[in-house]
Amino acid sequence: MRVIESISEMQQAAESWRREGTRIGLVPTMGYLHEGHLALAKKARELADIVVVSIFVNPTQFGPGEDFERYPQDMERDIGLLTEMGVDITFAPRASEMYTPDYQTYVEVRQLTQPLCGASRPGHFIGVTSVVAKLFNIVKPHVSVFGEKDFQQLVTIQRMVDDLNMDVEVVGHPIVREPDGLAMSSRNTYLNKQERQTALRLNRSLQQAEQQVAAGERRVEAILESVRNCLEEGGGLRIDYAELRNPVTLGEVSRVEGPTLLAMAAYVGKARLIDNCLLIPPGSP
Ligand code: PAF
Repeated sequence: MRVIESISEMQQAAESWRREGTRIGLVPTMGYLHEGHLALAKKARELADIVVVSIFVNPTQFGPGEDFERYPQDMERDIGLLTEMGVDITFAPRASEMYTPDYQTYVEVRQLTQPLCGASRPGHFIGVTSVVAKLFNIVKPHVSVFGEKDFQQLVTIQRMVDDLNMDVEVVGHPIVREPDGLAMSSRNTYLNKQERQTALRLNRSLQQAEQQVAAGERRVEAILESVRNCLEEGGGLRIDYAELRNPVTLGEVSRVEGPTLLAMAAYVGKARLIDNCLLIPPGSP
C-alpha cells in the first residue's frame, strides 16, 4: 500500500488512473479506524479498481469546545489495518496544505443541515461538505462510500453532489455494530466500562421503537416518549436530541406512516454518540 501525503501527488496519481480508465473508490475517514471503516473500504473494493482511504482529522468540522484536540489518532495502526485489507492508497494530507493561511472557501448545504446534529453543532456540516468537496477534487473518485451511522452527513453529501453536479456516485453503507449492538465509532474509545454499558441504550431504544412500530404504533410523541425513557432510565446519559424525520428531506413528520428516520445523539461521559434507524411500518411502500 502506498501512503500519499502531498495533494499534488494524489491529484497526479488520480489523473493518470482516470486516463487509463481505472475506476477510483474513495472512503473519507478521520482515522482511528475500526471495523465500520473497514467495511466501507471493502464496499469500495467491490465498486472500484483502486481504493483510496483518506485519513484527515478535519479541523473545520469541530466547534469550539469539541474534541478536535483529543480526537484519537494512531496512523501506524491505521496503515497496518489498511495494508492488511489490501487498500491501495492511504491519502493523509497535512492540515497546513489542506487549509493554507489564506483559505476562505466553504460549501454549504442549507436546509438539510439545519436540524438534528446541525442544530447542536453549528458550522459542523459546512466543515464536512467543504472538506469532502476538497477530497473529491483531489482524489477524483468515481464512487465514494459513507456510513449510514452519520445519516444526516450522508444525505447532505448526496445533496451537495447533486446540487453542484459533481461526477461522483455516493454510496451509503449500513451501520456496523459491535456484537452487543453499540454502533462502531472512533469516539467509543472515550467510554469507560460503565459508560460503555450505558451507551448500549441507544441501540436498545432504536430496537424498542422498531417493535412499537411493528406492533402498530404510529404516533410520533408516543414513540419518542418510549425512546427518551429507555435512554434516560438508569441515568448517566444526557440526550442531545431524539427525533423522527423524513429520511429524504429530514423534515418533521406528524405520524410514522412510511419509512421514517429515528435519529438520536446523546452524551455519555466525554463522548457524544449518535445512532439511527429507519422505522418501516409493515406494508409501507
Ligand atoms: O465521517 C467522517 O469521519 C467525517 O465527517 C468525514 C466524512 C471523513 C469528513 O471529515
